[in-house]
Amino acid sequence: MMMDHIARLREKMNTIVIEDKATLECFRQDFIGKKGSIANLFEAFKQLPIAAKKAIGPALNGLKSEAEKKFKSAASALEAVAPPAIQQPGDVTLPAFGADIGSLHPLTIVQNKIISIFQRMGFNLAEGSEIVGDWHNFGALNFPENHPARDLQDTFFLQLNPAQLLRTHTTSVQISTCTAQRPPIRSIAVGRVFRNEAISARSHCFFHQMDGMYIHTDITFSDLKGTIYHFVEAMFGEATKLRFRASYFPFTEPSAEVDIHCRLCQGKGCTVCKHSGWVEILGAGMIDPNVLTNCHIDPEQYSGFAFGMGIERIAMLLYQIDDLRLFSENHLAFLRQFKGCFGFSDAAVFAK
Ligand code: DAH
Repeated sequence: MMMDHIARLREKMNTIVIEDKATLECFRQDFIGKKGSIANLFEAFKQLPIAAKKAIGPALNGLKSEAEKKFKSAASALEAVAPPAIQQPGDVTLPAFGADIGSLHPLTIVQNKIISIFQRMGFNLAEGSEIVGDWHNFGALNFPENHPARDLQDTFFLQLNPAQLLRTHTTSVQISTCTAQRPPIRSIAVGRVFRNEAISARSHCFFHQMDGMYIHTDITFSDLKGTIYHFVEAMFGEATKLRFRASYFPFTEPSAEVDIHCRLCQGKGCTVCKHSGWVEILGAGMIDPNVLTNCHIDPEQYSGFAFGMGIERIAMLLYQIDDLRLFSENHLAFLRQFKGCFGFSDAAVFAK
């Protein structure tokens, strides 16, 4: 019986061809491992009577050493196999594929440029929160209690805490800056603002703004005008015509809006400027004395000017973009057009 078993195992062992490491390992486990078939035979061998042991022992030992021999020679043959040949690198003189360089978002480019222009004029960059209370967004900025902007229709209030809201303009940063610092204050703030508006080519529920102010003794409207003239020249070019138009904001008195000559039609009239030849770029004015008082700054001693603009609007004019949604929809074909633009090296007016 056991002799038959040994013979069959030998036959099976001889049919196995070991050509790779995985087969070698299987062979080891099946035949010479502690739980392999030869080890099992040795277990059974222990139970045999002495006479049978004498007859079978040499055959079993022979099988074991044959298995070990086959394993060793297969293992050393596999070790000797040469490592795979190194692939030829091909024609190294061919031109390389260009690395696909990313681009800054057009809003980042415009934002960088605006910040750079005002920083060169001595304005600091102030930080403000996107979530503010009614006081920072409306109350301290002299909005009357029943002003329509305070309505749910225009403003996103937080559901968990309706006393908090998403700022509707970066003018709210004026209040945090003016309560934390004492004049002279010359600062700008840039960031995201939110309004409860339907999304279309002309409006969105979030967009970006920048706001600036200068508070000191004896600040006048002509300081505001000088600053804005300089900004327009640096942003849109020296020859750009601009005009101040009387307007109204609760937080400035007097208030104005600034238009520039339409860049598309050179002021002749087109659909972008609604055939007026002018496009509005910002709101501005002298800070209302009530706002200064709300921030514990004495309006008898100090005066200041402020201004604010939409970053998207400036970018649309600068790059002739006609749909606000392009800024947030991340189409690569749109974004790739801004490769290589940074927005802070080309404020030509300052280089003179
Ligand atoms: N906050 C205004 C808006 O969102 C823009 C603005 C106008 C800001 C006049 C100002 C300013 O600081 O003085 O439309």
